[in-house]
Amino acid sequence: MIEYGESCTVVIFGVTGHLSINKLLPALYHLEQAERLPEEFTIIGFGRRDWTDEQWIEEVKCGIKDHARGGLDNEVFQRFSRRLHFHQGDLKLQDSFDELRKRLDDSDAFSQNHIFYLAIRPQDYNFAIKNLVASGLHDEQNGYARLVIEKPFGHDLESSEVLDTQLHKHFREEQLYRIDHYLGKETVQNILVFRFANLLMEPLWNRNYVDHVQITHAETAGVAGRSHYYDSAGALRDMIQSHLLQMLALVAMEPPARLDANALRDEKVKVLRSVRPISRNAVNMHAFRAQYAAGFVNGEKVPAYLDEDDIAAASTTETFSAMKLYIDNWRWKGVPFYLRTGKRMKENNFLVSIRFKRPPQQLFRDTALEQIDPDWILLNIQPQECLRIEMQVKKSGLELQTRTSQLEACSCDKAAQIDAYEALILEVMEGDQSQFLRFDEVSWAWRIVEPVMRSWMEEQDYIHTYPAGTWGPEISSRLFDRNDQFWRNKLGPNSCDV
Ligand code: BG6
Repeated sequence: MIEYGESCTVVIFGVTGHLSINKLLPALYHLEQAERLPEEFTIIGFGRRDWTDEQWIEEVKCGIKDHARGGLDNEVFQRFSRRLHFHQGDLKLQDSFDELRKRLDDSDAFSQNHIFYLAIRPQDYNFAIKNLVASGLHDEQNGYARLVIEKPFGHDLESSEVLDTQLHKHFREEQLYRIDHYLGKETVQNILVFRFANLLMEPLWNRNYVDHVQITHAETAGVAGRSHYYDSAGALRDMIQSHLLQMLALVAMEPPARLDANALRDEKVKVLRSVRPISRNAVNMHAFRAQYAAGFVNGEKVPAYLDEDDIAAASTTETFSAMKLYIDNWRWKGVPFYLRTGKRMKENNFLVSIRFKRPPQQLFRDTALEQIDPDWILLNIQPQECLRIEMQVKKSGLELQTRTSQLEACSCDKAAQIDAYEALILEVMEGDQSQFLRFDEVSWAWRIVEPVMRSWMEEQDYIHTYPAGTWGPEISSRLFDRNDQFWRNKLGPNSCDV
C-alpha cells in the first residue's frame, strides 16, 4: 500500500488556453494566498511555446493581474512563482511525454504524486491520454496519478462512451476526475445543506406542493474567443447537458444514504434515469432554441452571433436554449422542470426557482384580494449567493391586501467567497471524488438531450433570434404548461443590496 503524502505535482496541459489563464492559474494562486498549498507543491505548464520558466512566469503574472480577486499581491506571487515550471512539448508527440516523465523522475523538486489536468480542446484528449499512457505516467508505482478531465465529456453519447472506454483501459475509476465546475460552487453545495439540514423543507419538496421548478442560467458574455468550440457545441451541449442537468439532479434527488462520493452520485443518477425521454415528434413541445442578434449589453453595442469571428456563415447553432423535462418518479411525477440558458443575455445570473401551488381553498375570494401570488423558494447561485423564501403576508391597513415578504439567507461576505476551481483542485489533491462526475451521470445526461440535439441538427434552415442584451425570446414561454407560469429572470433587490 502506497503512503501518499500531501506533496503533489500538477501538470497542466493547455497552459495558453482560456481555462488555464482565466480559471486554473488564478485558482492555484488564490490557494497559495490562502496558504492551502503544501510545501512540496509544484506546477508544470506543458505547452508548445519556446518559453523558459521565467518567460512562463511572466505570462502567468499578467494573467493573474487580470483575473485574480483583488489583483496581484507581489509577495504572494513571489512565493507562488517558485512553484512554476514550464515544459516545452507537443501533445501529439510521445517524446515530449517521455521527456516529461524523465524530468519528473529525475528531479527531487517534483513530488511523485501527479495530477494531470487536461485543460485542452476535447479533440486533443485522445493524444494526451495515449501519450500519458505510452510514457507510463499513468502508473502509480511511486505515488498517485490522477487525471482531471474538463467538460464536455464527449460530443454525444457515443463519443462519450468511446472516451470512457479508452480511459478505463488504462486508468482505474479512482484516478479519474471528470469536472463539472458548477459542483464546486458554494451555493450549489448549499443546495444540499438547504434541503437536507432543514427538516422544514422535506415535507414540501414534492409533487403535492411544488407547481414547477425553473433553472435559469444567463450570461452577458458572447462566445468570448471560443468560436470554434462553441459553434460545434451550442448552448444545449455546452450548458444544459452538464451544469443545468447537474442542478436539476441536486434539486430533485432523494437524500443519499451517506455523504460519500458514490452514495451522492447514485442518487443523482436515479434522477437522471427517471427523466421522461423526449420522443422525436415531441421535441418542439419540450425544447426551444434561438441565437442572439446584434444588440446592446450593459450599454455597449455588440455584434450578432453570426458576425462574431470564426462563426460559420449560416450557422444555426443555438446560443439560447430552453427545455421542459418531467421526472417520472414518486416524488416529482407531473411537475415540470424548466431549464433555460443563454449567452448575451441582459444580466449574469444563475437562479433556481421553485414555485409552490396555490392553497386549495379560495378563502379570500370575496375580499379585496383578487389573486394571491404563490410562494417561491429562490436559490440564487450567482452573482449573489442567496437563498430566499417568498411568502404572502397582509399589508398593514384596514383593507385585506397582501404583499410578498422575503426570508433570506445571503452570503454577503464577498471577500470570503471562493471560486469553484479552488475548491475542486483541493478535492483532487485530497482524493475526494464526490464533487466530480461518475460516467453514468454523464451518460444519462447525454441520453436526455440527444433527441433534441439530433432534431436540431437536422433542422438547419431556421432559428429564432433575440436581440443581445435581453432575457431571450418571449416565445420561449410556449414551453410552459399553463399561462400562469412565467420565467423568473433574477432575484431582484435583497438585503445584500441595501
Ligand atoms: C462553461 C461553459 O462550462 O461554463 C461556458 O463552457 C460558460 O460557455 C461557463 O460561459 C459559465 O460558467 P460560470 O462559472 O462563469 O457561470
